[in-house]
Amino acid sequence: MNKVIYKRGLDISYEKILTDYLKTGQETYLYQITQFGKELMRLEIGPESIIETHLNVIKKINRDKKVYLKKDIDASFTILMEGIMSYGMAYKEYLNSRTEGYLAEIRELNIKLSRKLTEMTVLYNTIKITGSSLDLKEVLSSVFINTIKSLKAEDGSLMLIDPEDKVLAIKEAYGLEEDIIKKTRIKLGEGIAGLVAQKGEPLIISGRLNSPQIKRKGKYEGINSICAPLKTKKGGVIGIINLNRKVDAEPFTEDDLKLLSTIAHEAATAIERVSLYQELHKSYLNTINTIAKIVETRDPYTSGHQKRVAKLACAIAEEMSLPQDKTEGLYAAGILHDIGKMNVPAEILSKPGRLSEIELSLIKTHPQAGSDIIKEMEFPWAVSLIVLQHHERIDGSGYPQGLKGDEILLEARIIGVADVVEAMASHRPYRPALGIDKALEEISQNRGILYDPEVVDACLKLFKEKGFKFE
Ligand SMILES: [Fe+2]
Repeated sequence: MNKVIYKRGLDISYEKILTDYLKTGQETYLYQITQFGKELMRLEIGPESIIETHLNVIKKINRDKKVYLKKDIDASFTILMEGIMSYGMAYKEYLNSRTEGYLAEIRELNIKLSRKLTEMTVLYNTIKITGSSLDLKEVLSSVFINTIKSLKAEDGSLMLIDPEDKVLAIKEAYGLEEDIIKKTRIKLGEGIAGLVAQKGEPLIISGRLNSPQIKRKGKYEGINSICAPLKTKKGGVIGIINLNRKVDAEPFTEDDLKLLSTIAHEAATAIERVSLYQELHKSYLNTINTIAKIVETRDPYTSGHQKRVAKLACAIAEEMSLPQDKTEGLYAAGILHDIGKMNVPAEILSKPGRLSEIELSLIKTHPQAGSDIIKEMEFPWAVSLIVLQHHERIDGSGYPQGLKGDEILLEARIIGVADVVEAMASHRPYRPALGIDKALEEISQNRGILYDPEVVDACLKLFKEKGFKFE
C-alpha cells in the first residue's frame, strides 16, 4: 500500500514542479527535475515511472483546462528527458550495485549449496546401491522385520539412542504392547539393552542362567533373549536390537548371536547413512529457502509465493506419479523460479496498475536471468532449464523462447500451472486476490491451449477432490 500512497505524492510534487515551470518558464526546472530524480533514485523508482507521471500530470492539466501554450508543454518534456538522462545513468549503476549485493550473497550461498549437493548425491547413490529407502522409518522397519524373521523370535524391539537425552527409545517393535512401546526409556548402562548399548558388545541371556548384573522381573523373568548393539563403521553405538523367546522355545545360540551382530552392523550403517542424508537434505532445503527469501525482499508482495508454488508443483507431480527424484528437482525449481526478478527494478515488481511495454519487457527477462544464476549451482536436476521455461505455454505463446508442447520440459509445464494458480489466488500489487475458483477456471478454460492437459487435470483433482489448500 505504501507504494500507492507514495505514487500519489509523486504526482503532486511533480505537478508543482511542472506547473511552476509552465507559469513562470523558469530555468530552474531542469535543476528541480534532477533533484527530484535523485530522490526517486533513493526510493528505487525508475526513469520510466517519472515519464509516466509527467504524462499523467499533463493529462490532468488538460482536464483541469488550465491554459498553457502547447510549445511550453512540449518543451517541458524535452527538459524532463534531459533531467532523466542526468540521473538515469546514476540510477542504473545504483540499481546494479544493489542487485550485485544480493547476488554476492546468493553466490556465497551457492558455494555452500553445491557442497551439500555433492555430499547428498554421493550418499544418495550409496543408499540406492544398498537398496535402502531414503525414509528412516522405512529402513528401520525393513531391518527389524528381516531380523525377527531370520532369528525366529516371538517378540523384540529396535531401539535408538536419543542424541539429546542419551536414553534408548523404541522405534520398531514386534509382539509388544503399545503402552510399552511409547513409554519405554532406558538409560545407558541399565538393564540388558542399556548395558549392550553402553559396552557395545552383544549378549545372550539364557532363561536358565541368572546373571548378577541383570535382574529380570515380571513376564521377562527366566526367558531367553538376545541383544546386539547397532554399531557404526567408526565403532559408535546408535542403538540396539533386542529379541526375546525363540518360537521353538530353545535358547539362542552363539550362531544366532553372530548373525544378529552382522545384521545389526549392516543396519547401523544404513541408518547412519539415511540420517546423515536427511540432515543434509534439511540444511540444503534451508539454504534454498534462504535464497528465496533474499529474492522476496525485493518483491515483498509475492512473499511466500515461491514456497507455495513449490509445494503445489510437488503435489501435482505426486498426483501424476512422477518419480521421487523428479519431485525433488521440482521443489528446488519452484523455490527458485523467480530468482531472475532480482534483475528487475523493485519499483516495477511492486507497481500498482498496468505495466508499460518497457516494464513488461523488463519483467520478461527474469526466466533467462534466473536460469543464468542457477546455472552456477550444481544441481543434479535440470533446475536451470525448468526456470528458463516456466513462462512457456504449450501453444507457443509464452516466453522467452516461444516453445511448444513437448519442447517444454514436463517440470516447467508443472511449475507454469502452479505459478498461475498461486498468482491468481493471491493478492498482487495491481489487483486484489481473484480467489482459487477464478484460478481453477483459468486453467480449465485454457486446458490443452496454454497449459498441459494432464497437469491441469492433476491440479484440479488436488483442489476439488483431495482438499489441497495453500497454507
Ligand atoms: Fe515467473
